[in-house]
Amino acid sequence: MAIREIIEVPDPRLKQVSVPVETFDDELKTLVDDMFETMYDAPGIGLAAIQVGVPLRVLVIDLQPDDEDAEPVACDHDGHHHHHQPTKKEPRVFINPEILDPSEEHTLYQEGCLSVPEIYAEVERPSRIRARWQDLAGNTHEEDMDGLMATCLQHEMDHLEGVLFIDHLSRLKRNMALKKLEKLRKVA
Ligand code: NI
Repeated sequence: MAIREIIEVPDPRLKQVSVPVETFDDELKTLVDDMFETMYDAPGIGLAAIQVGVPLRVLVIDLQPDDEDAEPVACDHDGHHHHHQPTKKEPRVFINPEILDPSEEHTLYQEGCLSVPEIYAEVERPSRIRARWQDLAGNTHEEDMDGLMATCLQHEMDHLEGVLFIDHLSRLKRNMALKKLEKLRKVA
C-alpha cells in the first residue's frame, strides 16, 4: 500500500469525467488499498479515484475513520479501570456507483473536500437515495441510504462527473471560497 498525492483545485483533472471500471483485477485492488491509506492519512471520510489522479469510477468511504491502531484509552477516575473501545473502521468500496431513487426531500450538510482544503460550506442534496454499485469482485449491490452516508456518496459521485461541492454554491460564494483558499495557501 502507498499514500498517493491528493490533487487540489484548480487542477484541471478534477473536472474530468471518470470512466467505468471494466477489469476487476489486482491493479484495481491496489488502487483501492492506496485510496484507503491516502484517505485515512489525510484524514477524510471519502475519496474518489480522480482525487489521486486516476479517472476511474471508484470511490472509498469510511464514516468512522478513527482509528483502529489507537491505544485504547484507559481512565481510572473512580478507582476502576475502564477501557474505551476505539472506533471501528468501516471501509466501503463503491465501483461504478449509480443513484436510483433520490428523495424529493433535501437536507443541508456542511461539506468539505480533500481537494478543496480548509473550505467548508453547506450543500443541499436529496436526503435519501437508493444506490447500486459493484464491489472489487464485480458483484452488484443495492442499498437504501440516508443521513451522512447518502450525502457522502453523492459528494463522492459528483467527483466522477468532474463536479466539486463548491460547484453547488452560488458564483459569489464559490469565488469567496476560492479566494479564501488562495489566501490560506499564501500564508502556508
Ligand atoms: Ni470531495
